[in-house]
Amino acid sequence: MSTETEYRPGLADVPAAKSAISFIDGKRARLEYRGIAVETLAKESCFEETAYLLLKGELPTQKQLAEFDSELRQRRKIKSRLKDLIKCMPEHGHPMEALQTSVAALGMFYPCRDVSDPAKNWDAALRLIATLPTLVAAFARIRQGDEPIDPRPDLDHSANFYWMLFERVPSPAIRKVIDAALITHAEHTMNASTFTCRVTGSTLASPYATIASAIGSLAGPLHGGANEEALSMFEQISSVANVKPWFEKALANKAKIMGFGHRVYKVKDPRAAVIQELAEHVFAESTRPEKYEIALELEKVAAPVLGSKGIYPNVDFFSGVVYESLGIAKDLFTPVFAVARVVGWVAHWLEQLQDNRIFRPEQIYVGQRDVAYVPLEKRP
Ligand code: ACO
Repeated sequence: MSTETEYRPGLADVPAAKSAISFIDGKRARLEYRGIAVETLAKESCFEETAYLLLKGELPTQKQLAEFDSELRQRRKIKSRLKDLIKCMPEHGHPMEALQTSVAALGMFYPCRDVSDPAKNWDAALRLIATLPTLVAAFARIRQGDEPIDPRPDLDHSANFYWMLFERVPSPAIRKVIDAALITHAEHTMNASTFTCRVTGSTLASPYATIASAIGSLAGPLHGGANEEALSMFEQISSVANVKPWFEKALANKAKIMGFGHRVYKVKDPRAAVIQELAEHVFAESTRPEKYEIALELEKVAAPVLGSKGIYPNVDFFSGVVYESLGIAKDLFTPVFAVARVVGWVAHWLEQLQDNRIFRPEQIYVGQRDVAYVPLEKRP
């Protein structure tokens, strides 16, 4: 039995699994997927290749990549009855709730309750990665009264996602921004949603139930939901001139700056730097949006104060400003994150199954013991 001294709130620094998928050095701002720096992948790779790397452990040959890409393209469509189900969802519901529901429902269309067959597991892994963009885009369209747009097999993963959202093919520059953002968000060691995924997977639940539970975990404002919260914060600040007084008030109220801080990084999140580079790229041809100027000013004002505690911008600080400039609605930012992170979740699910033991940690009981039952009529 654990003792009080062993208890670490939030399981801080407690290893929950052995994993070969990604690595973080939180002091050196280093994130590697299967040993390769995320910045390199964001520049040189594409989403499909990075997904293959994360799932299989090494970069694909040209033939392997072509086959993998084709397998994904074949699994993008969703059943018309699943579209009907999405049509029944309340249009004001949050898209993360819609996504979690849709992914759980996907498991009813493609049952995979026995996870002992590697071929069936691989099929489910590909289907989840291929289908999440279709589900996100379908809800986004349906809630505004439009029909969902069918995926286009001639477009790559990122371009097709944009197509299904806007019925427009993105320019090569925009496609690259989306692709790099998806690569940057694809995997991140034992974060809350990945841990959730491994816990659910460890019960031998279906991959669809497993990924649905991870989506629920990602939705929270302390995790993936922070990208939406960060943009709302910039909206609330409303001008560059208001940054300093707003921050001083927030500090006095012990409020958290959304998009700042991380359990592992004690320096600026390397992904925030990649996203910031993308932002500069997107804004190079236009005037920078005021929210981006607010973000830069807030970083300038907050980093010297919070930096002494190792609190710096994380990936969610700049991503929303970039997504908004691409025309993506604020409440779709976290679903876009899920479209990327499903790769990491699936990689962890497959890794968990290789050497599975159900998660069943201990607790420190702090309640009463041996309490007598008082019949209802005798209670005061
Ligand atoms: N703004 C101000 N202070 C902060 C912030 C922040 N964003 N984050 C942490 N702190 C402070 C806390 O108030 C606390 O101070 P104290 O010791 O004086 O009480 C100290 O730093 C430790 O904070 P915890 O919340 O205990 O740190 P933890 O490691 O548990 O949490 C987390 C990490 C959840 C990311 C936290 O930094 C946070 O809430 N950030 C804002 C939300 C956010 O941006 N989340 C996205 C993370 S990245 C991702 O999930 C994709």
